[in-house]
Amino acid sequence: MLIAPSLLSCDFSRFGEEIARMDKAGADMMHLDIMDAHFVPNLTFGAPVIKFVRKYTDKPFDVHLMISEPLKYIDDFADAGADIITFHVESDSPIRETIDKIKERGLKAGLVIKPNTPVETVYPYLEDLYMVLVMTVEPGFGGQSFMADMMPKVEALKAKREELSLDFLIEADGGIGDTTIATAAKAGVDVAVAGTAVFKAEDAGAKIAELKAFC
Ligand code: DX5
Ligand code: ZN
Repeated sequence: MLIAPSLLSCDFSRFGEEIARMDKAGADMMHLDIMDAHFVPNLTFGAPVIKFVRKYTDKPFDVHLMISEPLKYIDDFADAGADIITFHVESDSPIRETIDKIKERGLKAGLVIKPNTPVETVYPYLEDLYMVLVMTVEPGFGGQSFMADMMPKVEALKAKREELSLDFLIEADGGIGDTTIATAAKAGVDVAVAGTAVFKAEDAGAKIAELKAFC
């Protein structure tokens, strides 16, 4: 399983160094949470910030857009150095057009589903996706409890992937740590996002290794 630390829990006064620290600690990719205080009740940072911290690692930037109109901002995030852009199926942008735009820019596209959204909503797009992100908390804040009842969605995606002979990755985001990662791994999660668990640890490298060992 790949581990994607969520920088939402980092020390933002040292954003670049925190990314470099995660790189050294063995992170497989950097998970960057973009919130617009409209799609979710919280506000984080935008493309200009990503552009400044891009130089702190060569590892992929996994940009999770929790914004109402992702299509309008794909160019900005592509220019800033995103590698993977995931956006919500519940957003107001046309889904097919947004996926196409991400791919036109040479990036990898992913769709995200909130806890109350049925997994079937992403099925029409699976062939065009690099990743499907299953939220295991309500998006908006770090430090919430993992919703194990989202695992049937992961299992369904895994079965669908096999049935259609596809190769998209299944990512889970929210509340993943020591006590929950094995559940995610067992269900078939390929990429685990972990914010609090990694950033609250004294030794991030040991924590990432420990999380991988649970899988
Ligand atoms: C929530 C974000 C997550 C979150 C994960 O809206 O998408 O990436 O920061 O943080 P933890 O691991 O603390 O739940
Ligand atoms: Zn996220």
